Amino acid sequence: MKLVAGNSNRPLAEAISSYLNVPLAKAQVRRFADMEVFVEIQENVRGEDVFVIQSTSFPTNDHLMELLIITDALRRASARRITAVIPYFGYARQDRKPGPRTPISAKLVSNLISHAGVDRVLTLDLHAGQIQGFFDIPTDNLFSAPILARDIKERLDGGNRMVVSPDVGGVVRARALAKRIDAQLAIVDKRRERPGESEVMNIIGDVEGRSCILVDDIVDSGGTLVNAAEALLANGAREVYAYITHGVLSGGAVARIANSKLKELVITDSIMPTEAVKVAHNIRVIGIAQLMGEAIGRTATESSVSSLFD
Ligand code: R5P
Repeated sequence: MKLVAGNSNRPLAEAISSYLNVPLAKAQVRRFADMEVFVEIQENVRGEDVFVIQSTSFPTNDHLMELLIITDALRRASARRITAVIPYFGYARQDRKPGPRTPISAKLVSNLISHAGVDRVLTLDLHAGQIQGFFDIPTDNLFSAPILARDIKERLDGGNRMVVSPDVGGVVRARALAKRIDAQLAIVDKRRERPGESEVMNIIGDVEGRSCILVDDIVDSGGTLVNAAEALLANGAREVYAYITHGVLSGGAVARIANSKLKELVITDSIMPTEAVKVAHNIRVIGIAQLMGEAIGRTATESSVSSLFD
């Protein structure tokens, strides 16, 4: 087995490498003066089972091109099998046509990855499970729920917990976590009653006096979370936490979270945390190296990956 890392999340790749006790393969992934990506795999990979670790996170297009070009280099170097390990799959939110003459970019990106020569994909908490079907190659979508559930159980009082979906679209994900930690479920229902009027947040469920745990796949601008936290507190919640898999945290998101009423935002390291994230007083990062490493090991030995979620 060989592990190759792109530049998107080197610390995670190193943590996976130490979990598996397999060193990262020597490779150069760098830029020419005009910013074209250049890749050179500096050791023999002929006949090897190769795992390329690369989140397609910000700057998304650069990291996607790195993944494609690394794959091309490996294919031309006669790797036996190439698995793209994509802890955060960028473009996933563009998984349908929101209107006429718009793209389905998640499908286009899936095509690019397959056509570059990837044989399998290993990813985590896809924005929508159906994106697996955009690939005509085996695609394993891992869940961070067991890791998040363990953390919640260790930190928050059992009897008072309530899992909250910040929008109606996230109910299935939130319900799955609520079941794992034996908590009730509430839903933030955002509605614009009339065009031009501001959105009204209705809370479905009684959150009075509860420790609410907002659950989502992505925190990007932070707007969804901050608004949901305010609505929950206005409805009598005692405190609000958020457990989100992918900390995209674009623009002023970290400051928005830091200045919000959220007691704590917990994210995973599927995307490499910035310095601002690391020093934020109410953001904590939990590691997924063990989960990703275990899934890589099981893929290499052709053993069950689904049993990781039991
Ligand atoms: C959307 O469907 C996702 O699940 C997240 O709710 C969304 O990406 C969060 O975005 P933001 O943090 O910008 O409100």
